[in-house]
Amino acid sequence: MPVDLSNEKYVVLSHDNAHATIYYYGATLTSWVVEGKERIFVSSKAILDGSKAIRGGIPLAFPHFGTVESSKLPQHGFARNSKWTFVGLTFENANESTAVFSLTPEGVPAELSELWPFGFKLFYTVSLLSSPARLRTSLRVVNTDSKEWEFTALLHTYFKVDDITKVGVSGLQSTTYFDKPTQTHITEESSRVTINSEVDRAYLKVRGEVLVDQLVTATVERHGIKFNEEGLVGLLKIRKSSSMSDVVVWNLWEEKAKAMADMGDEDYLRYICVEVGAVEPFIKLGPGESWEGFQIVEAIEE
Ligand code: BG6
Repeated sequence: MPVDLSNEKYVVLSHDNAHATIYYYGATLTSWVVEGKERIFVSSKAILDGSKAIRGGIPLAFPHFGTVESSKLPQHGFARNSKWTFVGLTFENANESTAVFSLTPEGVPAELSELWPFGFKLFYTVSLLSSPARLRTSLRVVNTDSKEWEFTALLHTYFKVDDITKVGVSGLQSTTYFDKPTQTHITEESSRVTINSEVDRAYLKVRGEVLVDQLVTATVERHGIKFNEEGLVGLLKIRKSSSMSDVVVWNLWEEKAKAMADMGDEDYLRYICVEVGAVEPFIKLGPGESWEGFQIVEAIEE
């Protein structure tokens, strides 16, 4: 069965040997299992009752990423705190299973909706693709208002890793990033970004694909002598639409994990956020106009 609607909180989409779980709350995808292996991180203290944005998965940032001086909305806007509607299964064939969710102002909590009083419709499309196994998530933004408005948007993906200290992110070299902790713009020098302390960076206009890998140690034997050899193993390949060319890399690290109510003390070791989005500049959308951005994540087989 490509789609299971039996749970009142979420939809399960299946294709080949892959499954994805998407909550109606926030349209937050909380699980992507490929060949029995979970690729998405959800905090051990995540709140899943719809009273707070889910800490983990792929929360959606809309109508803005982060906090914005001109907006009274909370950080990352309201899409992740809203009740989305399951529209239906749009594709179901040998290559993919695709489910679509939508959001209009009626699904937004009233106290948030009144802070952003514009007509809009969002479509969030989740596809499981095969050969190789990929997850495609796409956000389409439609202005249903009679006035122009502006937005930024981001797919805030938390990937599950075994050990953050062994993880690297490639594809960011020579890109300028906004470093949130120091509030400065810096050009990335490293061909493989590693994480050994808090990292909170918005890489702007990333050209190609982004690769997440992991350093592994294996014991090899040569001439009867055993050696420990280190090597890099690819975990995920992330492609994105040209409309979503910014990439946020975030791990809050130990101290902040302890201070965050919905993050387990050790959880920072088990995730890396690589968040594809359009965070700068704001995109203007006129009445009746629409915009779309997407990511395609490939689960690299080990
Ligand atoms: C990241 C931001 O995208 O989201 C970080 O760059 C932020 O600055 C993080 O801390 C988590 O945000 P929130 O609102 O879910 O705690």
